[in-house]
Amino acid sequence: MVIAVLKETAEHEHRVALSPDVAGQLVKKELEVCVEEDAGLGSNFLDEQYRVAGASIVTRDEIFAKANLILSVQTPPDEDLKKIKKGTTLICFLWALQHPGLVEKLKSAGISALGMDAIPRISRAQNMDALSSMSSIAGYKASLIAANELDKYFPMMMTAAGTIPPSRALILGAGVAGLQAIATCRKLGAVVEAFDVRPVVKEQVESLGAKFVEVPLEEDTETEGGYAKELSKENQDRQRQVIHEHVKKSDIVITTALIPGRPAPLLITKEMVSDMKPGSVIVDLAAENGGNCELTEAGKITVANEVKIVGPINLPSQLANHASMLYAKNMLALLNLLIKEGELNFDFEDEILLNTTITHQGEVVSPMLLNV
Ligand code: NAI
Repeated sequence: MVIAVLKETAEHEHRVALSPDVAGQLVKKELEVCVEEDAGLGSNFLDEQYRVAGASIVTRDEIFAKANLILSVQTPPDEDLKKIKKGTTLICFLWALQHPGLVEKLKSAGISALGMDAIPRISRAQNMDALSSMSSIAGYKASLIAANELDKYFPMMMTAAGTIPPSRALILGAGVAGLQAIATCRKLGAVVEAFDVRPVVKEQVESLGAKFVEVPLEEDTETEGGYAKELSKENQDRQRQVIHEHVKKSDIVITTALIPGRPAPLLITKEMVSDMKPGSVIVDLAAENGGNCELTEAGKITVANEVKIVGPINLPSQLANHASMLYAKNMLALLNLLIKEGELNFDFEDEILLNTTITHQGEVVSPMLLNV
Protein backbone atom coordinates (compact mmCIF):
# COMPACT_ATOMS: atom_id res chain seq x y z
CA MET A 1 0.00 0.00 0.00
CA VAL A 2 1.25 3.48 -0.88
CA ILE A 3 0.85 6.17 1.79
CA ALA A 4 1.47 9.71 0.52
CA VAL A 5 1.91 13.06 2.24
CA LEU A 6 0.77 16.24 0.50
CA LYS A 7 2.52 19.58 0.84
CA GLU A 8 0.05 22.00 2.45
CA THR A 9 -1.17 24.78 0.18
CA ALA A 10 -3.40 26.85 2.49
CA GLU A 11 -2.28 30.33 3.45
CA HIS A 12 -0.55 30.49 6.89
CA GLU A 13 -0.16 26.69 6.95
CA HIS A 14 3.36 25.51 7.74
CA ARG A 15 2.60 22.09 9.19
CA VAL A 16 3.03 18.72 7.51
CA ALA A 17 1.09 15.50 8.16
CA LEU A 18 4.07 13.19 8.79
CA SER A 19 7.42 13.88 10.42
CA PRO A 20 10.47 11.99 9.09
CA ASP A 21 10.48 9.95 12.32
CA VAL A 22 6.89 8.74 11.86
CA ALA A 23 7.44 8.21 8.11
CA GLY A 24 10.33 5.91 9.11
CA GLN A 25 8.11 3.98 11.54
CA LEU A 26 5.62 3.31 8.74
CA VAL A 27 8.42 2.24 6.38
CA LYS A 28 9.55 -0.28 9.03
CA LYS A 29 6.06 -1.79 8.86
CA GLU A 30 6.81 -2.45 5.16
CA LEU A 31 4.48 0.28 3.94
CA GLU A 32 5.58 2.42 1.00
CA VAL A 33 5.73 6.08 2.03
CA CYS A 34 5.89 8.95 -0.50
CA VAL A 35 6.28 12.58 0.48
CA GLU A 36 5.67 15.52 -1.84
CA GLU A 37 8.78 17.53 -2.56
CA ASP A 38 9.41 20.19 0.15
CA ALA A 39 6.29 19.10 2.07
CA GLY A 40 8.17 19.33 5.37
CA LEU A 41 10.05 22.53 4.69
CA GLY A 42 7.59 24.81 6.55
CA SER A 43 8.16 22.64 9.66
CA ASN A 44 11.93 22.46 9.10
CA PHE A 45 11.91 18.83 7.98
CA LEU A 46 14.07 18.44 4.88
CA ASP A 47 13.42 16.05 1.98
CA GLU A 48 16.74 14.40 2.83
CA GLN A 49 15.48 13.47 6.30
CA TYR A 50 12.46 11.72 4.78
CA ARG A 51 14.76 9.92 2.30
CA VAL A 52 17.02 8.74 5.12
CA ALA A 53 13.90 7.43 6.89
CA GLY A 54 13.13 5.32 3.80
CA ALA A 55 10.42 7.46 2.17
CA SER A 56 10.58 8.59 -1.46
CA ILE A 57 10.20 12.21 -2.55
CA VAL A 58 7.63 12.62 -5.33
CA THR A 59 5.62 15.26 -7.21
CA ARG A 60 2.02 16.15 -6.37
CA ASP A 61 0.76 14.52 -9.57
CA GLU A 62 2.60 11.29 -8.75
CA ILE A 63 0.74 11.22 -5.43
CA PHE A 64 -2.64 11.48 -7.14
CA ALA A 65 -1.57 8.78 -9.63
CA LYS A 66 -0.44 6.13 -7.18
CA ALA A 67 -1.43 6.75 -3.57
CA ASN A 68 -3.89 4.48 -1.79
CA LEU A 69 -3.86 6.63 1.33
CA ILE A 70 -3.31 10.41 1.24
CA LEU A 71 -2.43 12.32 4.41
CA SER A 72 -2.57 16.06 4.97
CA VAL A 73 -3.30 18.57 7.71
CA GLN A 74 -5.88 20.79 6.01
CA THR A 75 -8.47 19.52 3.53
CA PRO A 76 -6.88 19.63 0.05
CA PRO A 77 -8.40 22.27 -2.25
CA ASP A 78 -11.18 21.34 -4.69
CA GLU A 79 -8.88 21.09 -7.71
CA ASP A 80 -6.91 18.38 -5.87
CA LEU A 81 -10.00 16.51 -4.67
CA LYS A 82 -10.98 16.19 -8.34
CA LYS A 83 -7.66 14.43 -9.03
CA ILE A 84 -7.98 11.87 -6.22
CA LYS A 85 -8.92 8.46 -7.63
CA LYS A 86 -12.06 6.63 -6.58
CA GLY A 87 -11.33 4.23 -3.72
CA THR A 88 -8.47 6.32 -2.33
CA THR A 89 -8.53 7.11 1.40
CA LEU A 90 -7.87 10.64 2.65
CA ILE A 91 -7.10 11.60 6.27
CA CYS A 92 -6.94 15.26 7.36
CA PHE A 93 -8.93 17.88 9.28
CA LEU A 94 -12.32 17.98 7.50
CA TRP A 95 -14.80 19.75 9.84
CA ALA A 96 -17.54 17.79 8.08
CA LEU A 97 -20.48 19.20 10.07
CA GLN A 98 -19.56 22.72 9.02
CA HIS A 99 -18.91 21.74 5.36
CA PRO A 100 -21.81 19.71 3.94
CA GLY A 101 -20.74 20.60 0.37
CA LEU A 102 -17.34 19.01 0.94
CA VAL A 103 -18.93 15.81 2.31
CA GLU A 104 -21.05 15.60 -0.85
CA LYS A 105 -17.95 15.94 -3.04
CA LEU A 106 -16.03 13.26 -1.10
CA LYS A 107 -19.01 10.94 -1.28
CA SER A 108 -19.61 11.32 -4.99
CA ALA A 109 -15.88 11.04 -5.78
CA GLY A 110 -15.82 7.68 -3.94
CA ILE A 111 -13.12 8.91 -1.55
CA SER A 112 -12.99 7.29 1.89
CA ALA A 113 -12.41 10.30 4.11
CA LEU A 114 -11.44 10.28 7.78
CA GLY A 115 -11.58 13.53 9.79
CA MET A 116 -8.85 14.08 12.36
CA ASP A 117 -11.29 16.46 14.06
CA ALA A 118 -13.90 13.69 14.35
CA ILE A 119 -11.83 11.31 16.49
CA PRO A 120 -13.93 10.70 19.62
CA ARG A 121 -12.63 12.28 22.88
CA ILE A 122 -12.43 8.94 24.71
CA SER A 123 -9.52 7.57 26.75
CA ARG A 124 -8.58 4.92 24.17
CA ALA A 125 -8.26 7.59 21.47
CA GLN A 126 -6.20 10.04 23.53
CA ASN A 127 -3.01 9.32 21.58
CA MET A 128 -4.86 10.12 18.31
CA ASP A 129 -6.47 13.32 19.59
CA ALA A 130 -5.07 15.93 17.21
CA LEU A 131 -7.60 18.53 18.43
CA SER A 132 -6.06 18.36 21.90
CA SER A 133 -2.49 18.43 20.57
CA MET A 134 -3.22 21.54 18.51
CA SER A 135 -5.35 23.29 21.17
CA SER A 136 -2.59 22.89 23.70
CA ILE A 137 -0.15 24.57 21.32
CA ALA A 138 -2.64 27.38 20.72
CA GLY A 139 -3.00 28.01 24.47
CA TYR A 140 0.77 28.11 24.92
CA LYS A 141 1.35 30.40 21.96
CA ALA A 142 -1.51 32.74 22.98
CA SER A 143 0.24 33.32 26.30
CA LEU A 144 3.49 34.17 24.52
CA ILE A 145 1.67 36.58 22.20
CA ALA A 146 0.13 38.27 25.25
CA ALA A 147 3.56 38.54 26.91
CA ASN A 148 4.98 40.03 23.72
CA GLU A 149 2.22 42.59 23.23
CA LEU A 150 2.03 43.66 26.89
CA ASP A 151 4.26 46.54 27.95
CA LYS A 152 4.68 45.05 31.41
CA TYR A 153 6.53 42.17 33.05
CA PHE A 154 4.47 39.03 33.75
CA PRO A 155 6.28 38.16 37.01
CA MET A 156 6.78 40.24 40.10
CA MET A 157 10.18 41.92 39.87
CA MET A 158 12.15 43.16 42.84
CA THR A 159 14.72 45.55 41.51
CA ALA A 160 16.98 48.20 43.02
CA ALA A 161 14.66 50.79 41.49
CA GLY A 162 11.62 49.34 43.22
CA THR A 163 9.20 46.42 43.15
CA ILE A 164 7.02 45.72 40.13
CA PRO A 165 3.81 43.82 40.91
CA PRO A 166 2.97 40.74 38.80
CA SER A 167 0.60 41.10 35.84
CA ARG A 168 -2.90 39.71 36.19
CA ALA A 169 -4.21 37.29 33.59
CA LEU A 170 -7.81 36.20 33.10
CA ILE A 171 -8.42 33.05 31.04
CA LEU A 172 -11.97 32.55 29.74
CA GLY A 173 -12.74 28.96 28.75
CA ALA A 174 -10.67 26.31 30.53
CA GLY A 175 -10.73 23.44 28.04
CA VAL A 176 -7.50 22.10 26.54
CA ALA A 177 -6.28 25.48 25.19
CA GLY A 178 -7.39 27.42 28.27
CA LEU A 179 -5.68 25.04 30.70
CA GLN A 180 -2.43 25.31 28.73
CA ALA A 181 -2.76 29.11 28.70
CA ILE A 182 -3.22 29.05 32.49
CA ALA A 183 -0.14 26.84 32.91
CA THR A 184 1.99 29.01 30.61
CA CYS A 185 0.91 32.33 32.16
CA ARG A 186 1.62 30.86 35.60
CA LYS A 187 5.09 29.69 34.48
CA LEU A 188 5.77 33.20 33.23
CA GLY A 189 4.87 34.50 36.69
CA ALA A 190 1.46 36.14 36.21
CA VAL A 191 -1.34 35.94 38.76
CA VAL A 192 -4.04 33.95 36.96
CA GLU A 193 -7.83 33.69 37.25
CA ALA A 194 -9.99 31.55 35.01
CA PHE A 195 -13.64 30.93 34.25
CA ASP A 196 -15.52 28.22 32.39
CA VAL A 197 -19.22 27.41 32.21
CA ARG A 198 -18.44 23.78 33.03
CA PRO A 199 -18.07 23.67 36.83
CA VAL A 200 -16.05 20.41 36.63
CA VAL A 201 -12.98 22.33 35.47
CA LYS A 202 -12.74 24.29 38.76
CA GLU A 203 -10.49 21.62 40.28
CA GLN A 204 -8.25 21.50 37.16
CA VAL A 205 -7.92 25.31 37.18
CA GLU A 206 -6.98 25.31 40.87
CA SER A 207 -4.50 22.46 40.45
CA LEU A 208 -2.58 24.74 38.04
CA GLY A 209 -2.33 27.45 40.68
CA ALA A 210 -5.06 29.73 39.27
CA LYS A 211 -8.18 31.06 40.98
CA PHE A 212 -11.54 29.90 39.60
CA VAL A 213 -14.01 32.73 39.04
CA GLU A 214 -17.39 31.62 40.36
CA VAL A 215 -20.55 32.52 38.42
CA PRO A 216 -23.70 30.86 39.82
CA LEU A 217 -25.36 29.37 36.73
CA GLU A 218 -28.47 27.45 37.67
CA GLU A 219 -28.65 25.32 34.54
CA ASP A 220 -27.00 22.23 33.11
CA THR A 221 -24.02 23.62 31.19
CA GLU A 222 -22.36 20.44 29.91
CA THR A 223 -23.32 17.91 27.23
CA GLU A 224 -22.94 14.15 27.75
CA GLY A 225 -19.80 14.33 25.61
CA GLY A 226 -18.20 16.81 28.03
CA TYR A 227 -18.61 19.90 25.82
CA ALA A 228 -20.22 23.20 26.81
CA LYS A 229 -23.86 24.03 26.04
CA GLU A 230 -25.02 27.45 24.93
CA LEU A 231 -26.22 29.40 27.99
CA SER A 232 -29.70 30.89 28.40
CA LYS A 233 -29.95 34.64 27.74
CA GLU A 234 -30.31 35.29 31.48
CA ASN A 235 -27.17 33.33 32.34
CA GLN A 236 -25.21 34.95 29.50
CA ASP A 237 -26.03 38.35 31.07
CA ARG A 238 -25.11 37.09 34.55
CA GLN A 239 -21.82 35.73 33.23
CA ARG A 240 -20.97 39.00 31.45
CA GLN A 241 -21.63 41.03 34.62
CA VAL A 242 -19.09 38.95 36.57
CA ILE A 243 -16.56 38.91 33.73
CA HIS A 244 -16.91 42.69 33.42
CA GLU A 245 -15.66 43.14 37.00
CA HIS A 246 -12.69 40.84 36.36
CA VAL A 247 -11.57 42.24 32.98
CA LYS A 248 -11.31 45.71 34.59
CA LYS A 249 -8.57 44.39 36.89
CA SER A 250 -6.75 42.29 34.26
CA ASP A 251 -3.67 43.13 32.22
CA ILE A 252 -4.10 40.08 29.98
CA VAL A 253 -7.28 38.32 28.90
CA ILE A 254 -7.01 35.11 26.89
CA THR A 255 -10.33 33.83 25.59
CA THR A 256 -10.77 30.26 24.33
CA ALA A 257 -14.52 29.63 24.69
CA LEU A 258 -16.16 27.50 22.02
CA ILE A 259 -19.45 25.62 21.71
CA PRO A 260 -19.40 22.81 19.13
CA GLY A 261 -21.52 23.60 16.07
CA ARG A 262 -22.38 27.14 17.28
CA PRO A 263 -20.71 30.54 16.83
CA ALA A 264 -18.24 31.35 19.63
CA PRO A 265 -20.04 32.85 22.66
CA LEU A 266 -19.68 36.61 23.08
CA LEU A 267 -17.98 37.13 26.45
CA ILE A 268 -16.36 40.57 26.16
CA THR A 269 -18.43 43.45 24.85
CA LYS A 270 -17.24 46.81 23.51
CA GLU A 271 -18.32 48.42 26.80
CA MET A 272 -16.18 46.01 28.80
CA VAL A 273 -13.14 46.82 26.63
CA SER A 274 -13.71 50.52 27.26
CA ASP A 275 -13.49 49.80 31.01
CA MET A 276 -10.17 47.95 30.74
CA LYS A 277 -6.83 49.45 31.74
CA PRO A 278 -4.94 51.16 28.89
CA GLY A 279 -2.18 48.86 27.62
CA SER A 280 -4.10 45.68 28.46
CA VAL A 281 -4.04 42.86 25.93
CA ILE A 282 -6.81 40.49 24.84
CA VAL A 283 -5.82 37.41 22.83
CA ASP A 284 -8.96 35.88 21.32
CA LEU A 285 -8.40 32.25 20.34
CA ALA A 286 -11.98 32.05 19.10
CA ALA A 287 -11.18 34.67 16.40
CA GLU A 288 -11.68 32.20 13.55
CA ASN A 289 -15.11 31.21 14.94
CA GLY A 290 -16.49 34.73 15.25
CA GLY A 291 -14.53 35.74 18.36
CA ASN A 292 -15.29 35.87 22.11
CA CYS A 293 -14.71 39.64 22.05
CA GLU A 294 -17.02 41.96 20.13
CA LEU A 295 -14.06 43.91 18.70
CA THR A 296 -11.94 40.96 17.51
CA GLU A 297 -10.93 40.87 13.87
CA ALA A 298 -9.51 37.53 12.73
CA GLY A 299 -5.90 37.84 11.59
CA LYS A 300 -5.50 41.39 12.97
CA ILE A 301 -4.55 43.38 16.04
CA THR A 302 -7.24 45.95 16.80
CA VAL A 303 -6.66 48.78 19.27
CA ALA A 304 -9.60 50.28 21.16
CA ASN A 305 -9.31 52.54 24.22
CA GLU A 306 -5.56 51.71 24.19
CA VAL A 307 -6.44 48.01 24.65
CA LYS A 308 -4.90 45.64 22.10
CA ILE A 309 -7.20 42.90 20.83
CA VAL A 310 -5.31 40.16 19.00
CA GLY A 311 -7.27 37.77 16.76
CA PRO A 312 -4.74 35.12 15.79
CA ILE A 313 -5.29 32.63 12.97
CA ASN A 314 -3.94 29.07 13.00
CA LEU A 315 -1.62 29.35 16.00
CA PRO A 316 -0.49 25.68 15.83
CA SER A 317 1.08 26.51 12.48
CA GLN A 318 3.28 29.11 14.21
CA LEU A 319 4.87 26.26 16.16
CA ALA A 320 4.99 24.11 13.04
CA ASN A 321 7.84 21.78 13.96
CA HIS A 322 6.36 20.52 17.21
CA ALA A 323 2.79 20.78 15.91
CA SER A 324 3.74 18.50 12.98
CA MET A 325 5.57 16.08 15.27
CA LEU A 326 2.49 15.74 17.47
CA TYR A 327 0.05 15.59 14.55
CA ALA A 328 2.18 12.86 12.96
CA LYS A 329 2.16 10.86 16.22
CA ASN A 330 -1.63 11.25 16.44
CA MET A 331 -1.84 10.10 12.80
CA LEU A 332 0.40 7.08 13.48
CA ALA A 333 -1.82 5.99 16.37
CA LEU A 334 -4.86 6.19 14.07
CA LEU A 335 -3.07 4.32 11.28
CA ASN A 336 -2.09 1.57 13.75
CA LEU A 337 -5.81 1.01 14.24
CA LEU A 338 -6.80 1.40 10.59
CA ILE A 339 -4.08 -0.68 8.89
CA LYS A 340 -4.12 -4.41 9.49
CA GLU A 341 -1.55 -6.66 7.81
CA GLY A 342 -0.56 -3.94 5.42
CA GLU A 343 -4.12 -3.19 4.25
CA LEU A 344 -6.78 -0.64 5.21
CA ASN A 345 -9.36 -2.27 7.43
CA PHE A 346 -12.52 -0.23 7.95
CA ASP A 347 -13.81 -2.08 11.01
CA PHE A 348 -16.95 -0.15 11.89
CA GLU A 349 -17.45 -2.28 15.00
CA ASP A 350 -14.68 -0.10 16.39
CA GLU A 351 -16.22 3.16 17.67
CA ILE A 352 -13.09 5.17 16.87
CA LEU A 353 -13.05 4.12 13.21
CA LEU A 354 -16.82 4.45 12.90
CA ASN A 355 -16.92 8.00 14.28
CA THR A 356 -13.79 9.18 12.48
CA THR A 357 -14.83 7.94 9.03
CA ILE A 358 -16.99 10.49 7.25
CA THR A 359 -17.45 8.85 3.83
CA HIS A 360 -16.70 5.31 2.60
CA GLN A 361 -17.50 3.50 -0.66
CA GLY A 362 -19.68 6.33 -1.94
CA GLU A 363 -21.75 6.63 1.25
CA VAL A 364 -21.81 8.97 4.24
CA VAL A 365 -21.10 6.68 7.22
CA SER A 366 -20.41 9.16 10.03
CA PRO A 367 -23.07 8.84 12.81
CA MET A 368 -22.45 12.53 13.58
CA LEU A 369 -23.78 13.43 10.10
CA LEU A 370 -26.44 10.74 9.83
CA ASN A 371 -27.98 11.77 13.17
CA VAL A 372 -28.18 15.49 12.36
P1 NAI B 1 -13.76 23.50 23.23
O1 NAI B 1 -12.60 23.93 22.41
O2 NAI B 1 -15.01 23.04 22.59
O3 NAI B 1 -14.16 24.75 24.20
C1 NAI B 1 -13.21 25.42 24.97
C2 NAI B 1 -13.77 25.70 26.34
O4 NAI B 1 -14.71 26.79 26.28
C3 NAI B 1 -14.50 24.55 26.99
O5 NAI B 1 -13.88 24.22 28.22
C4 NAI B 1 -15.93 25.08 27.20
O6 NAI B 1 -16.54 24.59 28.38
C5 NAI B 1 -15.65 26.57 27.30
N1 NAI B 1 -16.83 27.44 27.12
C6 NAI B 1 -17.86 27.34 26.23
N2 NAI B 1 -18.73 28.35 26.40
C7 NAI B 1 -18.23 29.16 27.39
C8 NAI B 1 -18.66 30.35 27.99
N3 NAI B 1 -19.80 30.96 27.63
N4 NAI B 1 -17.89 30.88 28.96
C9 NAI B 1 -16.73 30.29 29.35
N5 NAI B 1 -16.28 29.14 28.81
C10 NAI B 1 -17.01 28.57 27.85
O7 NAI B 1 -13.32 22.41 24.32
P2 NAI B 1 -12.05 21.44 24.34
O8 NAI B 1 -10.92 22.16 24.91
O9 NAI B 1 -11.88 20.82 23.01
O10 NAI B 1 -12.52 20.33 25.39
C11 NAI B 1 -13.87 19.94 25.49
C12 NAI B 1 -14.07 18.78 26.42
O11 NAI B 1 -13.47 17.60 25.95
C13 NAI B 1 -13.51 18.99 27.80
O12 NAI B 1 -14.45 18.45 28.70
C14 NAI B 1 -12.29 18.15 27.88
O13 NAI B 1 -11.98 17.73 29.18
C15 NAI B 1 -12.77 17.00 27.02
N6 NAI B 1 -11.63 16.26 26.45
C16 NAI B 1 -11.57 14.91 26.66
C17 NAI B 1 -10.51 14.20 26.17
C18 NAI B 1 -10.42 12.72 26.38
O14 NAI B 1 -11.02 12.18 27.27
N7 NAI B 1 -9.70 12.04 25.54
C19 NAI B 1 -9.45 14.83 25.40
C20 NAI B 1 -9.63 16.26 25.23
C21 NAI B 1 -10.70 16.92 25.74
